[in-house]
Amino acid sequence: MADSVFVLRNFLVVSLAMNMCLIWKISYDDEETLTSKWSSWGNLQQKLHHHGSCITGEKNNGRVEEAQDNKRTEILPTTSFGAAPVVPDGGESVVINLDHGDPTMYETFWKQKGEETTVVTSGWQHISYFSDIKNVCWFLEPELVSAITRLHKVVGNAITEGRHLVVGTGSSQLYQAALFALSPPNASQPMNVVSAAPFYSSYPLMTDYLKSGLHKWAGDAHQFNKEKPYIELVTSPNNPDGFTRQDVVKGHKGILIHDLAYYWPQYTPILSPANYDIMLFTVSKSTGHAGSRIGWALVKDREVAKKMTTFIEINTIGVSKDSQIRAAKILQAVAGSCDDDESFFDYSYKVMEKRWKKIREAVDKTELFSLPEFSPETCAFSGRSFGQLPAFAWLKCEGEVEDCESFLRKNKIYTRGGKHFGVSTKFVRISMLCRDTEFALFTERLPAIIS
Ligand SMILES: Cc1ncc(COP(=O)(O)O)c(C=O)c1O
Repeated sequence: MADSVFVLRNFLVVSLAMNMCLIWKISYDDEETLTSKWSSWGNLQQKLHHHGSCITGEKNNGRVEEAQDNKRTEILPTTSFGAAPVVPDGGESVVINLDHGDPTMYETFWKQKGEETTVVTSGWQHISYFSDIKNVCWFLEPELVSAITRLHKVVGNAITEGRHLVVGTGSSQLYQAALFALSPPNASQPMNVVSAAPFYSSYPLMTDYLKSGLHKWAGDAHQFNKEKPYIELVTSPNNPDGFTRQDVVKGHKGILIHDLAYYWPQYTPILSPANYDIMLFTVSKSTGHAGSRIGWALVKDREVAKKMTTFIEINTIGVSKDSQIRAAKILQAVAGSCDDDESFFDYSYKVMEKRWKKIREAVDKTELFSLPEFSPETCAFSGRSFGQLPAFAWLKCEGEVEDCESFLRKNKIYTRGGKHFGVSTKFVRISMLCRDTEFALFTERLPAIIS
């Protein structure tokens, strides 16, 4: 008996010690993350997941304030109204995390689709590494090729004829693959990589993280004036500010990568099919299926497509077939819905239009903030005339506020400040892609801010 009590006590002590170690490790990691130069989206997500809870009302136990004082606010879970429908004090104490572009806003549409977009996979399926060995991209599922080609044709947003399709684990992997493919392996100096500010906040982390020696971030494309080879990354519509973009460096030694993640009719009028050498797309922002991690590149040059494929081969020996097949099903459903009474793009356009109306109304009620204006153009896909409805609001703090991110953070609104995009801290990027309840709370809180 005494033995078993002793064993039990030892067990409890050991498990307590292990838990303390885990808690200490998480706190330590968080501090490291915060003090490191780059805030890592992935690390943050992982930490939120580790903590595994969704706190919606923090005022009563003071944890928000406490954590802010400790400068470890990023470990706080974001709002999650799905899990906790009752919001104390009318939501005043809730932390609204609009830092990430996590695209949950189309969830309701996909719930309604039910069986039509359900994929069932048996244990014997998708076992091989290979999908189509005749294709340059040998791990690309033929079903995904059909779905992507059909959707681009229906929407009219990109030329697919004469292009090689390369699939990636998100377009993030395709960025790496394209940089690898376009940088000469034996050059005396790394290839310069530029993008016009405000640029996507994943640069320069994405370009320099591995310190490969093949390529190196060379900053804001507007400032680039070297007579050297370069790659210009052109995101259009742009993340963070939503504007349509062209390349800006006028050198003759440049290669362009066009990131068209937001060139879909819920975000921007489609004017003509994009026709560039390398075009990147992703289901993350087109259909809202970021969790499937599927992106694709349309590549004109066969050798470039081959090298991109080699990169992915070395990196992950292909791309999940399960994800590709799910993405194919979703993309086919989107293309098919274009003949329905309410297509996916009607639905998503209405979501974005409503949100932009709300945020503009909220901003108009105060002198503290401003938003960019977009001129209407006619969308060749929908026939509608509208100005951009970007996935992010590029908000400026007017007047004396110099650090807009900290200013909003004091009001429990988490955003991403201008410095992450290579510009002034007077700007912040606000995700427009969250769930309805969170967005409603945000547009209520914004005009109520006085200081
Ligand atoms: C402009 C742009 N490109 C690429 C990505 C990454 O997409 P994926 O989830 O396919 O890696 C994002 C995600 O936010 C983005 O905004």
